[in-house]
Amino acid sequence: MRHYTQYSLKSLNTFGFECIAKDFIEIDNIDNISENFNYIDKNFDVIKLLENRKFLVIGKGSNLILANKFFDGLVIYISDKNLDIINENILAVSAGYVWHDLVEFCLNNKYYGLENLALIPGTVGASPIQNIGAYGVEVQQFIDKIQVYNLQTKAIEFLSNVQCKFSYRDSIFKHTNQYIVLKVFFKFTDYTANISYKELSNYLNLYELEVLPQNIFKAVVYIRNQKLPKPEILGNAGSFFKNPIIETQKLQNLLNLYPKLINYPIDNNYTKLAAGWLIDNCNFKGYKYKQVGVYEKQALVLVNYTAVYANEILELASLIQQTVLEKFDIQLEIEPIIIN
Ligand code: EPU
Repeated sequence: MRHYTQYSLKSLNTFGFECIAKDFIEIDNIDNISENFNYIDKNFDVIKLLENRKFLVIGKGSNLILANKFFDGLVIYISDKNLDIINENILAVSAGYVWHDLVEFCLNNKYYGLENLALIPGTVGASPIQNIGAYGVEVQQFIDKIQVYNLQTKAIEFLSNVQCKFSYRDSIFKHTNQYIVLKVFFKFTDYTANISYKELSNYLNLYELEVLPQNIFKAVVYIRNQKLPKPEILGNAGSFFKNPIIETQKLQNLLNLYPKLINYPIDNNYTKLAAGWLIDNCNFKGYKYKQVGVYEKQALVLVNYTAVYANEILELASLIQQTVLEKFDIQLEIEPIIIN
């Protein structure tokens, strides 16, 4: 464990915004978590920090907006990258393991299913927080249980899949900050390839590729590279807004006005819309605002060209929200977590 003060988080968020944390503690071995917290509890009032939202657990910062120049609190960074093969169906992976490295490990070792989630930036510890999902698959389908450190009870506990309350881009971890994800237990049973996403099946057909995990991986990597910017090259946090879910009745009114509106029915009552389509149809694709902008190949992704701080991204986000609301009567919700 290492403790730093006045620590820059610039390289720990994929937008590349500058933000100085008052205290920063790196935990490199989660087996020592209780000892580490003896130290932390001697030096900090963790419960008070939690109440005041001055306690932040960070991975690679791929789903965060550091909204201020300073974070006047404590940042915990888990860098433990352990991976244990429990059996032919279960892997236990520490929070600091890089997500895409896990996807590759699984593919090479016949733990199939995660290939649809290739190239998602971030760490294993972050993956359940927003229940990462892409190309027809969500990580929740592969989570058996999660080992957490409970900051309230000061105990190491396990949360079952059900206890995690997963749903679209959501989990219990977005609603309480009392848990630190230490280790995710992934389960791999009954593999079925998922090529439900149109672009994926189109790619396989085009290149006459068999429906195999290796080919799905190849397709996802290709598709993502085509339309999502690499954070190392152009700062971004993936989709900036959630795809809105609306009542089917409202959909009918919208379809009368906009017959091409992209929609994915969820059940009889609700439909999910493509936020990217809505933003694109307000002519924002490629739009530049001060030192930030909307990505030219995917309107759902906001990018940071040269801004040092987050304010311009938040201004642009408000402008987009307001324009979409006026045109479609739909309130877009920001997807990454905003840290004030
Ligand atoms: N579209 C446009 N214009 C755009 C962007 C999209 O017309 O500028 C249309 C597309 O043509 C397509 C539809 O909108 O018909 C959906 O677009 P896309 O397939 O690119 O997916 P998405 O809804 O934009 C979601 C996830 C992504 C995930 C992809 C693939 C959310 C918020 N985003 O994007 O996740 O990779 O599906 O499954 O659910 C992320 O969360 O950071 C992320 C990248």
